[in-house]
Amino acid sequence: MLYQRSSALFKEAQEVIPGGVNSPVRAFNAVGGTPIFAKSAKGAYVYDEDGNRFIDYINSWGPMLLGHAFPPVVDAVIEKTKLGTSFGMPTAIETEIAELAVSMVPNIDKIRFVNSGTEACMSAIRLARGFTKKDKIIKFAGCYHGHSDSFLIAAGSGAVTFGTPNSPGVTQGTAKDTLLARYNDLENVKELVEANTNEIAAIIIEPVAGNMGCIPPVDGFLEGLRHLCDAHHILLIFDEVMTGFRLAKGGVQELKGIKADIVCFGKVVGGGLPVGAFAARNEIMNYLAPLGPVYQAGTLSGNPLAMAAGLAMLKAVNADTGLMNRLEEKTKYLHNGIADALNKNGVAHTINSIGSMISVHFAEGAVVDFDSAAKGNNETFKTFFHGMLNAGIYIAPSAFETWFITDALTYEDLNATIAAVEQVAKTL
Ligand SMILES: Cc1ncc(COP(=O)(O)O)c(C=O)c1O
Repeated sequence: MLYQRSSALFKEAQEVIPGGVNSPVRAFNAVGGTPIFAKSAKGAYVYDEDGNRFIDYINSWGPMLLGHAFPPVVDAVIEKTKLGTSFGMPTAIETEIAELAVSMVPNIDKIRFVNSGTEACMSAIRLARGFTKKDKIIKFAGCYHGHSDSFLIAAGSGAVTFGTPNSPGVTQGTAKDTLLARYNDLENVKELVEANTNEIAAIIIEPVAGNMGCIPPVDGFLEGLRHLCDAHHILLIFDEVMTGFRLAKGGVQELKGIKADIVCFGKVVGGGLPVGAFAARNEIMNYLAPLGPVYQAGTLSGNPLAMAAGLAMLKAVNADTGLMNRLEEKTKYLHNGIADALNKNGVAHTINSIGSMISVHFAEGAVVDFDSAAKGNNETFKTFFHGMLNAGIYIAPSAFETWFITDALTYEDLNATIAAVEQVAKTL
């Protein structure tokens, strides 16, 4: 494939945008080469500026559960736009999408809309701290909750010590209130809780992790966190920015039957427009301004175009009783096909998948946490990534990302993907 126009555009972009991109992972730093510039997308395909077509497994990093340019979303946005693009006043559609979301997701009474997943998670921990009147939070190594300061934290030296900033600009003062635990390791979380009695406001987790590749929770892990939180008056925050309205209509709470105290959303909830949200039972949400003392606001929060896109999306997800099964079947088909292709060629790998999330780790043995994900062979991944790209298959340009399966994918697309893996596997 030729990427001449993408290369020229990237060169131009780098003059005026840091690294040529508005979000770092787009820059291909982890895999090398020049990022391709998207021009348009429809259904399961994205088209670049050079006219190449790719079967898309990124899907805008998650929102496009039903495919690109999903007609009900496109139509809803066009119609809303004609009425004005922002008012800074309440609108009826905000209540409409809130009512629908509350009806789809278990254990929530109220929801507040924001503009991104980052904002949702940032606001959720502020609310948890205000509500519990405690300062510290526990997060898990390898889980991503957006780029607000409290989450850009690496593990400190000892298992039970506080974290350290993992980006310049994050202060030690902020880092000391974030504790890092190992995903799927309940004992580790217990140690942290016991070493910080009465200090932990919240445990925040991706209940199915997607930001170290796809890593589902092991049996009993989420239940264990729930019990621990109940015993210590800690709020359990499910960051369902990736999984919400995706792994089940009610997200992982519904899928696994575990109750979270606060739930964060993003991606699917906005149907491809900039939307995030956080939600909880009344007792917690009523702590938020203007009802309560915890401040949170946004000029464009609940923006009518974003709400129109989100509402069209949630309505479609809610109405489609076969959707989750179809997505799961497609994912399983891909999982088995890729595993066969890699096994035939003797390529060491582990595939994790659940619902419509899947990732190929080029590591042997179970991948259950950040350390086991990090054992993956990055050189193999780079070759795999570029081989797939040249075969017209667009997967995330990092080994630490999940692939997102969209309902727009046909079995022909899946077969083409598996055939590409078979070819590329010969080069690994
Ligand atoms: C689980 C999770 N939480 C939060 C975020 C941050 O969302 P945003 O990029 O919309 O700020 C992401 C983004 O990928 C995510 O995957």
